[in-house]
Amino acid sequence: MARSTAALLVAAATTALLFAVGATAQGCANATFPAGRSFERCNTLPVLGASLYWTYHAANGTAELAFRAPSTSGGWVAWGINPTGARMPGSNVFVASQDGSGAVSVLMTVLESTSPSLTNGTLKFDVPVPPTAEYAGGAYTIYTTVALPGNSTTQNMVWQAGPLSGGSILPHPTSGPNLQSVKRQDFLSG
Ligand SMILES: *[C@@H]1O[C@H](CO)[C@@H](O)[C@H](O)[C@H]1NC(C)=O
Ligand SMILES: *[C@@H]1O[C@H](CO)[C@@H](O)[C@H](O)[C@H]1NC(C)=O
Ligand SMILES: *[C@@H]1O[C@H](CO)[C@@H](O)[C@H](O)[C@H]1NC(C)=O
Ligand SMILES: *[C@@H]1O[C@H](CO)[C@@H](O)[C@H](O)[C@H]1NC(C)=O
Repeated sequence: MARSTAALLVAAATTALLFAVGATAQGCANATFPAGRSFERCNTLPVLGASLYWTYHAANGTAELAFRAPSTSGGWVAWGINPTGARMPGSNVFVASQDGSGAVSVLMTVLESTSPSLTNGTLKFDVPVPPTAEYAGGAYTIYTTVALPGNSTTQNMVWQAGPLSGGSILPHPTSGPNLQSVKRQDFLSG
C-alpha cells in the first residue's frame, strides 16, 4: 500500500510538472481566437494564469481587447480598469460567468466597495461594442472594446477569478494571487 501511494504521488507530481512546463512555454503569443478576432499585442499577466490581448486605436482612443483566464465551469473571471486608483473599489469591470446549462454571460459594473452589489449596468467610460464572452478549453475569454478613460494609454488594470454557486457570483479568495491581480497597463507598448 505504501508503495502504491508513493507511485501515485510521483504520478501526480509528474503531471503537475508537465502542466507547469506547458503553461510556461505557451505564453500569450500563440493564443488562438475564433475567426474574425485578432489582436496586435498581448501580455501574460503576473497572476491567475491570465492574459490580455488588444489592439489600440489612437485615432479614437479605443482598445479592442480580449481577456483570457483559466477557470472551472463552476467559476467566474473578471477584468477591468480603475480610473481612480490601483485597487478594487472604483474599478469598472466586466464579469464573465455561466449558468448550469453552460450559457455564458457578461455583467458590467462599477465596484462600489470590496463587497460590491454587482448590479449589471453601465461603466464610467464608453463601451462602444457590447461585451461578449466564451468558455472553452477550461478558460473564459471576455471580448470588449473600451474608450480608455481620459484618452490615456496607461491605466490601472484589475482582474480576478472566483467561484460560482448555482450561477451566482461568490466572493473571490482574499489571499495570495487574488490580492496581486492589479497592474499599471500600457496600451501602447504592453
Ligand atoms: C509560438 O509558436 C512558434 C512556432 O510553433 C514557436 O516557435 C514559439 O516559440 C511559440 N511562442 C511561444 C511564446 O510559445
Ligand atoms: C486620443 O489621443 C490621441 C493622441 O494620443 C489623439 O490623436 C486622439 O484624437 C484622442 N482621441 C480622443 C477621442 O480624444
Ligand atoms: C476606432 O478606430 C478603429 C480604427 O480606425 C476602428 O476600426 C474602430 O471601429 C473605431 N472604434 C469606434 C468605437 O469608433
Ligand atoms: C447584463 O445586461 C446586458 C444588457 O442587457 C445583458 O446582455 C447581459 O446578459 C447581462 N448580464 C448578466 C450577467 O445578466
